[in-house]
Amino acid sequence: MTATEKLSEYAQLTERALNGYFPLETLPQQRTAEAARYSLLGGGKRLRPALLMEFCRLCGGSAEQALPFACALEMIHTYSLIHDDLPCMDDDDLRRGRLTCHKAFGEWTALLAGDALLNRAYEVMGQALCDTKSPHDAARALAYISRCAGIYGMIGGQTMDLQMEEGALESKYLAEMVALKTGALLSAACVGGCLLAGAPDILCQAAETYARSVGLAFQIRDDVLDVEGSEQVLGKTTGSDARDGKITYVTALGLEGCRRKIDELTKEALCAAKQFEDHDFLCELASWLAGRTH
Ligand code: IPE
Ligand code: IPE
Ligand code: MG
Ligand code: MG
Ligand code: MG
Repeated sequence: MTATEKLSEYAQLTERALNGYFPLETLPQQRTAEAARYSLLGGGKRLRPALLMEFCRLCGGSAEQALPFACALEMIHTYSLIHDDLPCMDDDDLRRGRLTCHKAFGEWTALLAGDALLNRAYEVMGQALCDTKSPHDAARALAYISRCAGIYGMIGGQTMDLQMEEGALESKYLAEMVALKTGALLSAACVGGCLLAGAPDILCQAAETYARSVGLAFQIRDDVLDVEGSEQVLGKTTGSDARDGKITYVTALGLEGCRRKIDELTKEALCAAKQFEDHDFLCELASWLAGRTH
């Protein structure tokens, strides 16, 4: 099975479960639930859930055991995208091949849809903690994922991104900013999966190294695609970084420099992956992501 086939298998598993967490209902507050469903179930590579389930499996756990955490992480990621697209942040119109949440539902609904996804994520992880036979491992995963999503992780990185855009933070913080805004949720996936399976520190560290390398390469590729990608294939607005005057890896290294850096980071990721016995998917995925077009 190729990496993209395996990714799509994990994606199907994730989407079936996500669909159940945000059912179609006729509640008076359904408008916000609809907006959350719209963003959550409208495409996306489902990279983070796949990594979380794969790392859990590699450390002796199962994909099924990891599924609620994988879904919760995808909810957190989706909320971060809804908020990232808002006019007060990147102000974009297109996401996952359709109108951004605020363009389709209005601003306050999009804001609340993001909040609803974030809260549902913690509810789902809390319920999994109640249901599991290994609550200590699940609690460690929950604590780790929470840290990665918060001020010392993704939210911290988004803060630095916007401060840099305003000229209130120097460009020397670029790598740190990316490690947080994008790297942290990939660490949440990779290390979170290991923790759930009760993996030893040495494997958690290998997962962290893999996540750090793949995460930085992933954002550099994202910055490149914003310049030379096809809006049709990518499913999101291109050219918005230049329009917003963002400091990105393209402005820092140029397109050729970005390509070299992605290659270097991918080699590091492959090295880290090889500390796991059954590493084919991790290696193929890192190589595929280096040249991804969406
Ligand atoms: C987009 O993430 C935001 C970044 C961190 C660059 P993805 O490229 O994983 O977005 P989806 O989930 O596939 O839509
Ligand atoms: C944001 O990076 C990553 C998040 C934490 C949402 P970007 O702002 O570059 O992501 P895109 O290009 O809009 O997906
Ligand atoms: Mg952004
Ligand atoms: Mg953006
Ligand atoms: Mg981008």
